[in-house]
Amino acid sequence: MHPLELSSEALREALEAAATFVRGEIDTLAEQPSVDLAGAEELAHTFVEPLPAGPSALNGILDRLRPAVRKSFNTAGPGYLAFIPGGGIPSAAIADFIATSTNRYVGVRPPAPALAQIEETAIRWLADLMGYPKEAGGILTSGGSLSTLSAIVAAREARFPEDFSKGTIYLSSETHYCVPKAARIAGIRDARVRRIPIDARRRMDTEALARTIAEDKAAGLQPFMIVANVGTTNTGAIDDIPRILEIGRAHGVWVHADAAYGGFFRLAAQGAALMPGLPECDSITLDPHKGMFLPYGTGCLLVRDPATLQRAHSMDAEYLHDVRAQTSPNFSDLSPELSRDFRGLRLWLPLVLHGADAFREAIEEKLALTRLAYEQLRADERFEILDEPQLSVIAFRLKGEGEAADRLNEDLMSRVNARGRVFLSSTRLDGRYVIRICVLSFRTHKGRVQDAVDALREEATAVLANG
Ligand SMILES: Cc1ncc(COP(=O)(O)O)c(C=O)c1O
Repeated sequence: MHPLELSSEALREALEAAATFVRGEIDTLAEQPSVDLAGAEELAHTFVEPLPAGPSALNGILDRLRPAVRKSFNTAGPGYLAFIPGGGIPSAAIADFIATSTNRYVGVRPPAPALAQIEETAIRWLADLMGYPKEAGGILTSGGSLSTLSAIVAAREARFPEDFSKGTIYLSSETHYCVPKAARIAGIRDARVRRIPIDARRRMDTEALARTIAEDKAAGLQPFMIVANVGTTNTGAIDDIPRILEIGRAHGVWVHADAAYGGFFRLAAQGAALMPGLPECDSITLDPHKGMFLPYGTGCLLVRDPATLQRAHSMDAEYLHDVRAQTSPNFSDLSPELSRDFRGLRLWLPLVLHGADAFREAIEEKLALTRLAYEQLRADERFEILDEPQLSVIAFRLKGEGEAADRLNEDLMSRVNARGRVFLSSTRLDGRYVIRICVLSFRTHKGRVQDAVDALREEATAVLANG
């Protein structure tokens, strides 16, 4: 047998070794520290090595990998409450194993129509969950940043087939940086990107938006896109989408929703009420690697009119004439990618295996856990909560102003993280240091959220006594 092929026996053994490795990691996740970076750079250096000419035993490779996995932020564990978690459900890894082992080609539809359809169906389900009409479509991407890039290019092409030099795009000062970054990559210079101020709940100030658009038009500019936040990274704020849509419609402007973090809260019973107007937006960024708990590298862009995505990305080549799609467009007609992984299976298989209710219940649990932590922190008068959580982020700090108070808060967060049970991250809001709790991992349950609150309260006592 060719050395690059694995016999049935060798494959079975390798899978068993890999499964043992994975179970060893997953079964101990709750006991592993929430962060362990001691000696991580030294360990990283051991991987600076020449390319080996000959083979190595898998068990030895796994033995090297284990510490590399562990010397990290424990992003898969229940204590990960930093940035935007997700966890990574194991069934998605099984889908990846099947997809990459069978290695069929889905960049275009004709080589594997049923597999392409599996992916299209999974996208259809996401569109349904967002309340989109049946004509809507979309594409699975590697994440929110790439979804946003394709949305901007689709909006730009829809409005400016030729010259977009006067085109302006509107976002709030809370919008994720992937939006101005994507704008730059799409050729929209920073001078054409307007950052609209926010209100007291950190939502876009829609009157300022209307005013800025009117001023820009009067100055001869061509507003073409507004990005509405459906769950900001800082605090989970949701912009006033109905009002943004009204302004957008009045000026013929494409309205895009960045629901990378917030969109999947629509699964909850109260979800649709949290984000009215979302189904009317021209496009939606969604990150299944956040609110659907899939592994990193799973994003989605939905568009009400798939022809817009196609106009922006479709191109022909003679060497592809054998595989021109007859029914649905090829995925390569809807995104910058041609060859790509069969990422649809990673979404479809877990949804079929577990059923949508399992995801719905997990999302509802995250909202309830956030409420639990919020109520307890609010009841402790040493803390200032920046806003009542709109989704599953709580932004807070120990009361006090100035650099000394910032330092106390930094100290508080480091002490909590050093305990190793939970891992929190911070941000700056209006120039002040703010600690965040983001509850989104499917592995985070009540006990761990309680640990976070208890650690914060106990360490607050220590920090205030020292300070
Ligand atoms: C609100 C929001 N939008 C977009 C992104 C970018 O997504 P990604 O990291 O998948 O590229 C993030 C990432 O955390 C986010 O929180």
